Amino acid sequence: MAVRVGVLGATGAVGQRLIQLLDPHPEFEIAALTASDSSAGKTYRQAAKWRVDSPIPTDVAEMTVTATEPDAVPDDVDMLFSSLPSSVGAAVEPGFCEEGYVVSSNSSNGRMDDDIPLVIPEVNAEHVDLLEVQRDERGWDGALLKNPNCSTITFVPTLAALTDFGLEKVHVSTLQAVSGAGYDGVSSMEIIDNAIPFIGSEEDKLETESRKLLGEFDGAELTHNGMDVAASCNRIPTIDGHLENVWVETEEELTVDDAADAMREYPSLDLRSSPDPLIHVFEEPDRPQPRLDRTLGDGMAIAAGGIQESPFGLQYNCLAHNTIRGAAGASVLNGELLLENGYI
Ligand SMILES: NC(=O)c1ccc[n+]([C@@H]2O[C@H](COP(=O)([O-])OP(=O)(O)OC[C@H]3O[C@@H](n4cnc5c(N)ncnc54)[C@H](OP(=O)(O)O)[C@@H]3O)[C@@H](O)[C@H]2O)c1
Repeated sequence: MAVRVGVLGATGAVGQRLIQLLDPHPEFEIAALTASDSSAGKTYRQAAKWRVDSPIPTDVAEMTVTATEPDAVPDDVDMLFSSLPSSVGAAVEPGFCEEGYVVSSNSSNGRMDDDIPLVIPEVNAEHVDLLEVQRDERGWDGALLKNPNCSTITFVPTLAALTDFGLEKVHVSTLQAVSGAGYDGVSSMEIIDNAIPFIGSEEDKLETESRKLLGEFDGAELTHNGMDVAASCNRIPTIDGHLENVWVETEEELTVDDAADAMREYPSLDLRSSPDPLIHVFEEPDRPQPRLDRTLGDGMAIAAGGIQESPFGLQYNCLAHNTIRGAAGASVLNGELLLENGYI
């Protein structure tokens, strides 16, 4: 029987992607939709300005949106997918967990807290058991699991494939699509014919989240990876798909062939939303490209290419769909992991 789920922040850019992915999902049934007080009481069709590239699901369209508070969500809902602004997430997500809801969240609040797992299932599925520590410490019946920032999700799986070589220093420079800022995030007058070499707080997220994701969990405590990471983040006028240039220095010698083989062979998981292969490695020197490659693996694959030696270690490019693999799809995959691990 499908698990009854709710979407917090259901009317937003990521909330709409969540609905697009959850509506046909055989393991989940959408049973609650929340948003701000200005949307509460409206049907979803009235409240959401639907902008996703498939029709609004008819059953969801006629559901009533509620306020984002535990009392408004039916008791028989077992899991919540959260795509709230981080300030709102910080204020309300703990209250849902206290009331017994298991929350798979996109919002950046709490991602770096010691007792909140930050998970990309193919990279660090074992970190999900940090939820036991969280429940002991916070006394929650529910639980709070986070997925990383969309740019972090793009390059960390490629690093995970190279960990056997001993990661020492990583430089990453991003070319990020406008959808990552939400529909109202970047004005067209700012971004057309332009590139903006600043995205607030983004560089810090790539540098800190990557070390947490590649850290070691001993069943009680998480030790962050000791590699050095420097990030430079840029907004460019693509719609979807973050492209990133990466330089990696390793303890062991790492050849182009070693890196390509390690990425190609890096395993996916036996979860519905985990694509096989996880990392698609291109031989063509001009790939991956956002428009051509962002939908690989239904938007859940990571694309890599341009692998070459450089004076700063091994160099390559990688790409992922920022609102699917980098946001809504990441939360859904984490939901599948929670289900698989008995947290629902
Ligand atoms: N866009 C991306 O690619 C991306 C990627 C990774 C992570 N994220 C993260 O995901 C979250 C959502 O991003 P988004 O781009 O979807 O934002 P968005 O389009 O602005 O949507 C925000 C959602 O939160 C609701 N909301 C706003 N204020 C609220 C309040 N005070 N109480 C309850 N609900 C409230 C909105 O409802 P109303 O419609 O009623 O205002 C809407 O449903 C953010 O934390 C963002 O950083 C986004």
